[in-house]
Amino acid sequence: MADTELRQRKGKANDDNKPPVDSAELLNQTKGDDDSKPGISKPKDSATLRKQAKDEDNAGSRLDILRVLTFLFLASCGLSYVISSGESFFWGMKHKPYYLKPEWWKAQFVCNYPASTLGMARNYVIQSLTSTLLTSILQGGPIYLTADELSDYNGYVQGRPLYLAVNGTIFDVSNGLNMYGVGGSYHFFAGRDASRAYVSGCFKEDLTPDMRGLEEMFLPLDDAEIDSQWTSAEMKELKARELQQAKERVHKTLKHWVDFFTNSPKYQKVGYLKRDEDWLERLPYPELCQSAKDKRKKRGPRQQD
Ligand code: HEM
Repeated sequence: MADTELRQRKGKANDDNKPPVDSAELLNQTKGDDDSKPGISKPKDSATLRKQAKDEDNAGSRLDILRVLTFLFLASCGLSYVISSGESFFWGMKHKPYYLKPEWWKAQFVCNYPASTLGMARNYVIQSLTSTLLTSILQGGPIYLTADELSDYNGYVQGRPLYLAVNGTIFDVSNGLNMYGVGGSYHFFAGRDASRAYVSGCFKEDLTPDMRGLEEMFLPLDDAEIDSQWTSAEMKELKARELQQAKERVHKTLKHWVDFFTNSPKYQKVGYLKRDEDWLERLPYPELCQSAKDKRKKRGPRQQD
């Protein structure tokens, strides 16, 4: 309190064009008579006073810098937490939103299309960039689309990004325009959940999310001669095991594709398909596609125990 008063008075003294020696006197007055020891020269006191005031100013500005840095640090942690949906405070998220991935920004500005389609592609990219970015930022969370709504994201509706779904999860695949866009080799995957085809490889018959019975493609074919190596009880047990393994293979293959789109630096997970509870029962039970049927093999001979 005394120092602040001293500085104010010192400032006033300087305003009045008084020599620095007045400040030293003030110091002595403020500190009291006990401090006015002989042998301490006036000019030295004045210098000490100025140094002290300067030190205080420095300490003040250092404190301000510390405050700003602390604020920035906390703001950064908060922003990271919000953007990563609670995954990380330090931007160490495994699945960064696409607009934080350098590959995504690079892909927006590097054009790989022939000159004739350059303008069209650029428009498309700018429009999809704006709409996906805005959608994502404004919504601040996953989007939910019905199968019907998703079909508008297949590349035919101008200004819409390209979406596809696997196992009910929607991904933005606008960066794979040459594959999923109109005329692309995998265009049939855009605008729908074709989970079954990702496993069966039947890109015409199986463009559906219905996975029922697909494990059949991994089941061995019965053969009277080979199967006679097992008793009927053993065969029942073996078939139950085979069915279990076949289901696991379907699950693993589908998971491979979900992981592929989730972890790809080019694509972003944007939401989920909105479905009625009984959506599956309302579909006709699918048949195994011909090429998957054709690939099935007979059971191998019994191994010696
Ligand atoms: C179950 C079977 C298959 C599935 C589900 C499948 C799926 C896919 C998908 C989703 C992509 C796009 C990858 C990306 O976005 O980067 C792709 C790309 C590709 N696939 Fe397949 N694929 C299958 C079989 C095959 C087969 C048998 C071949 C070759 C004969 C093949 C050749 C290719 C090629 C060349 C690309 C790159 C396409 C391009 O750059 O335009 N795929 N595949």
